[in-house]
Amino acid sequence: MNDEQLIAAARAAALKAYAPYSNFSVGCAILSVDGEMVTGANMENACYRLGVCAEISALTAAQAKFGLANIARIAVAGGDGSGTELAGSSTVTPCGGCRQSILEAAHLSGRDVEILCGNGDGTAHDRHSIAALIPFGFGPESLKDAGA
Ligand code: THU
Repeated sequence: MNDEQLIAAARAAALKAYAPYSNFSVGCAILSVDGEMVTGANMENACYRLGVCAEISALTAAQAKFGLANIARIAVAGGDGSGTELAGSSTVTPCGGCRQSILEAAHLSGRDVEILCGNGDGTAHDRHSIAALIPFGFGPESLKDAGA
């Protein structure tokens, strides 16, 4: 699956978001090293702080389907709208909390994880790595002396 296809899957997932409070729909598509794919979308709640990001939704599905350690590439995309159409020219990058969760997967696999960040209208994307998005991150090895 190429980058454009993975971003298209993330945009399609965004159309399934439940985001009535922000009207900002985000989708995430995660590809495994073996070419399997899972997707997720943000899911908001009337108790606002309980909302779940698209990345966490997809990471949970990835863990269930092929394991966090087998994540190869991630696409995130979104913008204003829902249902049938997304708009917005700014690319969506993972929030800080999601970066931390992606970092966990990168540490498990021992590989840097590539993250493609698309906008709402499908006209642009950027490419980042998790190492660049969360430098000096706190990971599993940070706890190695804790005796946990
Ligand atoms: N959102 C995500 O799903 N992923 C991100 O990386 C950024 C933000 C969602 C959370 C909330 O439902 C909406 O976008 C507006 O913040």
